[in-house]
Amino acid sequence: MITVSNIGLRFGERKLFEDVNLKFTPGNCYGVIGANGAGKSTFLKILAGEIEPDSGEVVIASGIRMSILKQDHYQYDQCVVLDTVIMGNQRLHEIIKEKEELYSKPDFSDDDGMKVAELESEFAEMNGWEAESEASTLLQGLGIGTDLHDKLMSELQGAEKVKVLLAQALFGNPGILILDEPTNHLDFKSITWLEEFLIAFQGIVIVVTHDRHFVNKICTHMADVDFGKIKLYVGNYDFWYESS
Ligand SMILES: Nc1ncnc2c1ncn2[C@@H]1O[C@H](COP(=O)(O)OP(=O)(O)OP(=O)(O)O)[C@@H](O)[C@H]1O
Ligand SMILES: [Mg+2]
Repeated sequence: MITVSNIGLRFGERKLFEDVNLKFTPGNCYGVIGANGAGKSTFLKILAGEIEPDSGEVVIASGIRMSILKQDHYQYDQCVVLDTVIMGNQRLHEIIKEKEELYSKPDFSDDDGMKVAELESEFAEMNGWEAESEASTLLQGLGIGTDLHDKLMSELQGAEKVKVLLAQALFGNPGILILDEPTNHLDFKSITWLEEFLIAFQGIVIVVTHDRHFVNKICTHMADVDFGKIKLYVGNYDFWYESS
């Protein structure tokens, strides 16, 4: 559950949001719509905590992990493709690295042994043994074959990188998925795969996209950004269009 209360934001003279109040609930997929420059991307950044609003707050139910489709296509250039996907779950990735460091210590102490045992149990709780196969399945679903999984991100083409970043966002069953234009650079087959993934997804999806067919396929609600307000409607885009 995400509760947005009294959000207000100005960029200089421009009032982008005023007194926005919304609730997002699990199992629903919200398509954020509005004119160019209305504030759709900015709203997603407020939800993600990347932009601090001037007033109000966003409260996320405790223990719920939010996952965001990264926009910077070069951020992971020095990382291996499969690791980049696993980095979608930051804590799990930290545990894997810390374990590796401890196991490779030449002077492995009793303290290190205790620390590793703690990490191993957290790793098992997070289903860590499945991480690589899950990451691999996501990548293949999006058309990134296993021959690319051990390559560096910098060796991939633009459209391939976008798919890896999308797999990263979807990785590890997050509670909340924030996606700004996820179908950009995707081919038809990957879009269809993503639609099926999101329809089956149990958490909250909040997505901005210009792809009307995609919106109609996956969205249960529309969030219309207009004149500083955001209004929620039940139904997909065509339903919203006909009724408004
Ligand atoms: N950091 C910033 N500082 C000042 N103004 C900004 C900033 N970020 C965005 N804006 C302005 O705020 C408005 C909303 O931008 P935003 O990118 O959220 O719109 P959008 O609805 O996502 O547009 P688009 O459909 O083009 O993606 C625009 O007028 C933009 O120029
Ligand atoms: Mg935008």
